Amino acid sequence: SDQYVVIGNPIAHSKSPAIHARFAELTGQQLDYQRLLAPLDGFAGAVHDFIAAGGKGANVTLPFKLEAFALSTELSERAKIAGAVNTLKFEHGSIYGDNTDGIGLVADIVRNAGVSLRGKRLLLLGAGGAARGALLPLLQEQPAVLTIANRTLAKAQDLQEQAKSLSDNCELLACRFEDLQQSFDVIINATSASINDDVPPLAAAVFNKNTLAYDMMYAAAPTAFLRLAASHGAQCRDGLGMLVEQAAEAFALWRGVRPPSGQVLAEMRAALM
Ligand code: ATR
Repeated sequence: SDQYVVIGNPIAHSKSPAIHARFAELTGQQLDYQRLLAPLDGFAGAVHDFIAAGGKGANVTLPFKLEAFALSTELSERAKIAGAVNTLKFEHGSIYGDNTDGIGLVADIVRNAGVSLRGKRLLLLGAGGAARGALLPLLQEQPAVLTIANRTLAKAQDLQEQAKSLSDNCELLACRFEDLQQSFDVIINATSASINDDVPPLAAAVFNKNTLAYDMMYAAAPTAFLRLAASHGAQCRDGLGMLVEQAAEAFALWRGVRPPSGQVLAEMRAALM
């Protein structure tokens, strides 16, 4: 059957093989999906070896998303804007690069959480790769305001400039965390602070009881950001749904079939409880 992998370093704890195996089962698709640990200095070699062995596609995770972008011979529009690739498709000697992270985030917020972003006040925390990947899909939902807050102001301003070229009716702001004093409808944590159980310094005023606080990171226990948001009464959501939805977009690109991602997310939540 057709072969796929998720490539990263580390990769042992990736949930992607289980997610894609369940998608394949539920859609009646025949495919094989494995983890592939690439050496930190050997991403391109690992991809070329996998293509030579007949591989059809790959998901790419940390720390290789920029290298996957560079290695692609064709790119989707959203991958170009993100400057990073998390999904590769190999056919006819080409390497097609896509980025399904941002669309997966939006799908989880809008479809699974049932929170519309249209006309809303959004706050994006962070201005690195994860934030950049979310920019276009978030703007396509036509929020009223998008504020980008970052520890390093200049990077938030760069992202604000890029956002201006992608939207003409959303109010776009850039600031430091300390400058935030008003509340938001949706706050998305795209910083990597969660990895160190850290959280940007946010005033209590940014949260209200209707705020959806979303952490793009998924961990077994709530992140420091979600604990802070919960302590201020906000609604909290971790990145498990984004993980499932970005996988569903990749699966659809490879197989031409849309898997029942909502069902798989519900199954995973049930198994974790
Ligand atoms: P990723 O691909 O995960 O986005 P990245 O491109 O290195 O990784 O970006 C990391 C983001 O998290 C940046 O916005 C970074 O802030 P700076 O631009 O000021 O470096 C942010 N970040 C990392 N650790 C943080 C922390 N402890 N507190 C607040 N922001 C943090």
